[in-house]
Amino acid sequence: MAAGRIILYTGKGGVGKTSVAAATARRCAAAGLRTVVMSTDPAHSLADALDVALGPGPTEVAPLLHGQEIQAQEEMERHWDAVSDWLGELLTERGVDRISAHELTVPPGMDELFSLLQIKRHDASGDYDAIVVDCAPTGETLRLLSFPDICTWWLEKVFPVRGRLVAAARPLAKTMLDVSLPGEAVFAEAERLAANLVDMNQILRDRTRTSIRLVATPDRMVVKEAMRTFTYLSLYGYLTDAVVVNRVLPDEAADGYFAGWHANQREQLELVRDGFAPVPVLTAPHMPCEAIGGAALDVLGDAVFDGVEAQALLHSDLERELVSGENGRATLRLALPFAERGDIDLKKVGLEVIVRVGGQKRTVMLPAALAGYETAGARFADGALEVTFERLADGRTATAS
Ligand SMILES: Nc1ncnc2c1ncn2[C@@H]1O[C@H](COP(=O)(O)OP(=O)(O)O)[C@@H](O)[C@H]1O
Ligand SMILES: [Mg+2]
Repeated sequence: MAAGRIILYTGKGGVGKTSVAAATARRCAAAGLRTVVMSTDPAHSLADALDVALGPGPTEVAPLLHGQEIQAQEEMERHWDAVSDWLGELLTERGVDRISAHELTVPPGMDELFSLLQIKRHDASGDYDAIVVDCAPTGETLRLLSFPDICTWWLEKVFPVRGRLVAAARPLAKTMLDVSLPGEAVFAEAERLAANLVDMNQILRDRTRTSIRLVATPDRMVVKEAMRTFTYLSLYGYLTDAVVVNRVLPDEAADGYFAGWHANQREQLELVRDGFAPVPVLTAPHMPCEAIGGAALDVLGDAVFDGVEAQALLHSDLERELVSGENGRATLRLALPFAERGDIDLKKVGLEVIVRVGGQKRTVMLPAALAGYETAGARFADGALEVTFERLADGRTATAS
């Protein structure tokens, strides 16, 4: 049973994700862990940061340390060929030329999702004690991370009835709609992919060993975005175990040309400390040169992980739990840091509770025990959203509420 440590770094472009991920991996390896650091950001710069050549497979870059820049295209071919071929055929039938058809068969953002599947393979192989992932910037990663929920839905609701559906629809589709329905191979591949994504989602939500670290610079817009990301990650049930504030100007910059920046950064640092508490905030100075190569990365790593172990789970609480109460009531606690009350929309359909915060949506699957419950209200308490459920009177079934 593989159970290595998995650390994912995300944050706005240019804040230092790649540098901090590389520095983390070097420290994990130095601590004796068999480590792989992989970049899933299509804008790869991991090789540049480590100052070595990297390929799509793991390459040894230091004792106990492998580096890897995932090629989304290769991953896609591995996981999506049959589906892609079918979609391609369909589009070509309809007059789209072959090359464009091939391009169109990969939904935007899908390629990075395939890249993340590499985590699952490394985890299953048992080859590594630590997997460090340099992810794509905030929005992308979030959308991808929420994707497996859709897969669960497909696996549970669509695949079980596909045989009947397809048999019934095939002649109709051909004559009425002028399209060919996918064959068994396509379904099988889509099903395998969906199952893989669900497995990966489970690994990513394993809070005993997987965590996400947000990288930010102490600038207003960057901090705001990191806070939003933190809200959404909590909503998705992913653990954030640290915030890394990078490029902090040293006190020498308090006077002179950078005085304004320095003062603003102090303000933002305060905001970060207040806002993310109790999640630990780690900091690194704006170094006098770029963080390129092992020596520079180790200087960065020494600053970020001053007094803490890079591989440790630095925080383990995610205040999201289901509390069963008495008198036919139950309460679901969702940690929703920074979310304003007005931003939240709640809906329950059967065993699914759909919570919307801003533009993001999350489906919480309730335990079967709550089948006979309906939502009775929601309120904010101690930075968490508490949704209360009430048992329906006998004989009634839960409907949308
Ligand atoms: N603390 C730091 N001090 C100085 N330069 C830094 C620091 N952190 C990162 N850099 C440099 O900033 C640039 C962007 O960093 P990078 O890690 O590639 O960001 P991201 O992956 O978030 O886009 C790189 O040239 C890197 O060497
Ligand atoms: Mg990067």
